[in-house]
Amino acid sequence: MMASINYWAVVPAAGVGKRMQADRPKQYLPLAGKTVLEQTLARLIQADVFSAIAVAISREDPYWPELACSNDEKIITAAGGKERADSVLSALKSLTEQASDDDWVLVHDAARPCLTSEDIHLLIETLKEDEVGGILALSSHDTLKNVDGLKITETIDRSVIWRALTPQMFRYGLLKQALEAAVGNSAVTDEASALEMQGLQPKIVEGRPDNIKITRPEDLSLAQFYMEHQV
Ligand code: CTP
Ligand code: MG
Repeated sequence: MMASINYWAVVPAAGVGKRMQADRPKQYLPLAGKTVLEQTLARLIQADVFSAIAVAISREDPYWPELACSNDEKIITAAGGKERADSVLSALKSLTEQASDDDWVLVHDAARPCLTSEDIHLLIETLKEDEVGGILALSSHDTLKNVDGLKITETIDRSVIWRALTPQMFRYGLLKQALEAAVGNSAVTDEASALEMQGLQPKIVEGRPDNIKITRPEDLSLAQFYMEHQV
């Protein structure tokens, strides 16, 4: 009999939030009565599919132990790393004892608190029989331009460009191996790019546009707006 496949969530939450220019990392800023990170983790718990959620936390982080969810039995922590990919790899390694190579891992940014259960389940249902896995993505509504300095050199065919979101869903063994092979490569800004470097072709699944990444100060009120209008 085939062993059943488990689903794991990995949440990189060890960034400093430079572009947010706040007094603390953006994952600890308040949003709709909780911190951004608590909102994100609540969404993952709500989806009711994950065996555990591994969160990468910076070693110098004084905020995490203060959150109620730091004691949640479904949540385990790992040390954050220099780059996002290092944090993800660290969290993956913290699951070594429990996860098998064929299990699915969904990696999701701490800074995307508006993720819906709908999108989590859409990603899983679309890809669970897939060989490689894939990511939530968004098409561009705007016309896109290639530029040299501030001068337009050409208009890009919009239909071939997609914006990569998270979650990104890959098999545990394959993802760990791809990230290990990519250590130190600054071109690896998401999980899919690590698999692409292995010559693989992850799929895209069209996600919801409200799954924004909080990056700049104005994004917080936008996230709050989306949350209020989601239920
Ligand atoms: N992240 C991480 N470890 C790092 C860098 C980033 O776990 N060394 C996490 C962030 O906490 C965030 C996600 O990766 O949840 C996406 O990264 P980004 O939006 O770039 O966050 P920051 O790196 O914190 O922000 P900035 O680039 O503005 O400094
Ligand atoms: Mg960053």
